[in-house]
Parts: sequence; C-alpha cells; structure tokens
Amino acid sequence: MILPGSTAQSFAAALADATGEPLGRVGYDRFPDGELLVEIEDPAAVDERAIVVAATTSSDAHLECLQLQDAAREAGAQEIVTVLPYMGYGRQDEAFGTGQPVSSRAVARAISTGTDRVLTVNPHEAAVLEFFEVPTSAVDAAGQLAEPLPPNLDDPLFLSPDEGAIDIAETVQAAYGAGTVDHFVKERDYDTGAVTIETGEAAVAERDVVVVDDIIATGSTMSEAIRSLDGRGAARIYTACVHPMLAGNAVTKLATAGVERIYGTDTIERPVSTVSAAPAVAEEL
Ligand code: R5P
Repeated sequence: MILPGSTAQSFAAALADATGEPLGRVGYDRFPDGELLVEIEDPAAVDERAIVVAATTSSDAHLECLQLQDAAREAGAQEIVTVLPYMGYGRQDEAFGTGQPVSSRAVARAISTGTDRVLTVNPHEAAVLEFFEVPTSAVDAAGQLAEPLPPNLDDPLFLSPDEGAIDIAETVQAAYGAGTVDHFVKERDYDTGAVTIETGEAAVAERDVVVVDDIIATGSTMSEAIRSLDGRGAARIYTACVHPMLAGNAVTKLATAGVERIYGTDTIERPVSTVSAAPAVAEEL
C-alpha cells in the first residue's frame, strides 16, 4: 500500500497508477498545541509492504514522514520503503560554517530509523545517499523533462547554470533528441547569497534555449543565468528543473528575466509540475 504525506499526494497517486499498488487514504490533523498527527484511514488494509511517500519540503513534512513510517509499522507492515520524491535539506550536505550541522545527514539518519529502504529522486549531491543508514538509491527523472517541451524547438541549446548540472542538461537533450548542450559558470557568495553567472561560449543567436537545473529554489540562479543571455539574440527561453521549489518570488524573477515557460516534475507539487517522476520511481520499486 502506498501511503502519502500531505505534500506528495499527486505523486503518490501517480505512483499507485504506475505500480498498480493500492493508494491508502491518510488523514492529516493537528493538535491544538500545533503538533501533527497523521492517521491511516484503513490500517487493516495495509499489506506486508508499505510505501511511504513524502516530499520533505518542510519540517512538518519531515515529521509526517516519520509518523507515517511508524503508523505503517503499527498497522503490521513488515517492510517499509520510503520514497522521497524531494529530499529536503539535501543541499545542506556539509557544515558550511563552524558550529553548523550537516543537516542532510541529520534528517537522513532520522528517516533511516523507520524504514528498510529509501528511494529518492535527483538528490543535489549523490553523496547524501551515504548519510542514510539503510539501502538507499536515487532515481534520475531528468529525462522526463523532455516530454512537456514544445516539440518544435528551433536548434535548441540546453544549458545548465553550472558545470555540476551538465549531466541533467545532457539527459534532457538526449531525451529530446535534438540540439546541443553547454553550461554557464556560476559562483555563489555564501555570505550574501548573491549568485554571479558568466555565459558559456555556445552560439545562442536565433536558437531556442532551455536552461536546465536540478532545482529552482529562490530562482536567483536561473534568473541570473537567463539575464546573462541578454543581447545575445536567443529566440525563446524556457527553464526546466526536476524540483520546482519556486520559493518566494521565484516565478516573478523568472518571468521578468524573460522566461517563456517553466517546466518541472511533480517531485514538488506546483502549478508548473507538468510531468511526473513517478513512472521512473515505479521502475525501481
Ligand atoms: C545549486 O548548485 C543547484 O543546482 C541550483 O542551481 C540552486 O540550488 C538553485 O537555487 P536558487 O534557485 O535559490 O538559486
């Protein structure tokens, strides 16, 4: 049975479709003091394997994940698989300053206590998988991003904002079946959060450009990347990411930078989540 956290309900339904596993109904409640309470509505229907699906986009979503694992075990599940379509705190993969935690390790350890196995989608760094204390693997859903792109892109150029994300741009380009790949050079000032992007060398004039990344969070990286194309004569500019976090005014930043359309998967449920990563996860289950 698939048991969704509140932030991964569409993903869980898509996973149920893709696997044929039943989708359990879960209630999400809160005590007057603010503490959370999830409840599996038909615990008797929980079978031997429970699949907890939690996009841990917030502290509450992390808590729900831990509660669901425990509720599934209480309901008699013998094996618990935890699917994290989006792993929150995944970008805090080292202590960036004295006195700071390795937050992804802290949450990975907590999640490991209630599960037999973890599957996640495009973690920011593969190294975070090692923080889990149970078998953990990552699914690459970047290829799915080719699907919603317009079919008639003109000599498309797939760009990643930095060299680290070039694999994702290559995967999208290969799945799209046309165009070329290049990357920008990105530097981030960790004190101020400011991002500076320098353009790559690739010819852009009169070409459709798709800027591809693993995640759009504040939109600073993407919007700076797109602004750096100003004056180079690109035709249409699109963005595509696996995890459309789109925090704060990210959508406005992208729109004012000149983006035609944003595409994302459903690892984080947003209006731009036009394609599902669930079929790729289903293959690994
Ligand atoms: C960083 O290396 C990632 O690949 C993303 O480029 C970054 O995390 C996006 O964050 P933001 O949208 O806040 O710039």
